Amino acid sequence: MAERAALITGASGGIGLAIAAMLAGEGYGLTLSARRPEKLEDAVAGLREAGHEVQTVAANVAEEEQLKAVFVAHEERFGRLDVLVNNAGVGAGAPIAETDTKLLDLQLAVNLRSQILGTREGLPLLRKAGAEHGKALIVNTASLAGKSGPAWLSIYGATKAAMINFTEATRREVAKEGIQCTALAPGFVDTDMAAFIRDEIGEPLIQPTDIAEGVRFLLRTSPSCNVPEIVFVRPGEDYVGAG
Ligand SMILES: NC(=O)c1ccc[n+]([C@@H]2O[C@H](COP(=O)([O-])OP(=O)(O)OC[C@H]3O[C@@H](n4cnc5c(N)ncnc54)[C@H](OP(=O)(O)O)[C@@H]3O)[C@@H](O)[C@H]2O)c1
Repeated sequence: MAERAALITGASGGIGLAIAAMLAGEGYGLTLSARRPEKLEDAVAGLREAGHEVQTVAANVAEEEQLKAVFVAHEERFGRLDVLVNNAGVGAGAPIAETDTKLLDLQLAVNLRSQILGTREGLPLLRKAGAEHGKALIVNTASLAGKSGPAWLSIYGATKAAMINFTEATRREVAKEGIQCTALAPGFVDTDMAAFIRDEIGEPLIQPTDIAEGVRFLLRTSPSCNVPEIVFVRPGEDYVGAG
């Protein structure tokens, strides 16, 4: 049984899978979740073939009971939680005047509500890990959109801004218990989510492995160093005003 364990939502591709591969290499036992079971199984096949300890739990994180079941399955399998990555997210662009209520609710549910509920569900075991070794970690995948207020991505950006704020509030509540909290705020990353804009940008996007290396850095910092957020930008991307 692995000495450390991590749970990642939205782990069947893109950023979540890259973080999973990094954590597997660091020796973590993993619970990985996403909605589509086949895609999830395909995604983790390589990790299992390499001998890593990986549990998959298909779940829609917008459904509270399904999300809770992921944490129950994780505790049953590993009995501990050292790193929680609240990563599942969806984006839907539209002018504000054409806001579709269903897409509004979906983005709020997946990008914001599920990460808050996931934090609540993870905290009991994270507290135990923090007390044990002073270095439990919550990573919330936000976005550069949460720093800049991008036009046509207003709801997505608002959910991500809220998560940056929520991450800092969480950090202030639990930092003294050995739990570190970081919001990741990347610009466009080369995943399915950014496929719609890849050609238009015309320069290489940030790689999912870059984000995973950011998380590896968080594993390496001392218990006395908190990193509230990490912003990742492309060479041709403005820090403020891009998204
Ligand atoms: N790519 C970018 O440019 C970029 C930039 C900044 C931030 N981000 C953020 O990074 C995170 C990961 O995105 P990505 O780029 O890696 O996207 P991706 O490749 O599309 O992966 C998204 C993951 O989330 C899962 N997912 C989506 N809706 C879900 C739901 N309701 N319940 C459970 N799982 C769900 C997907 O699997 P299923 O569809 O099977 O559920 C998949 O595993 C998101 O929070 C995103 O907002 C992305």
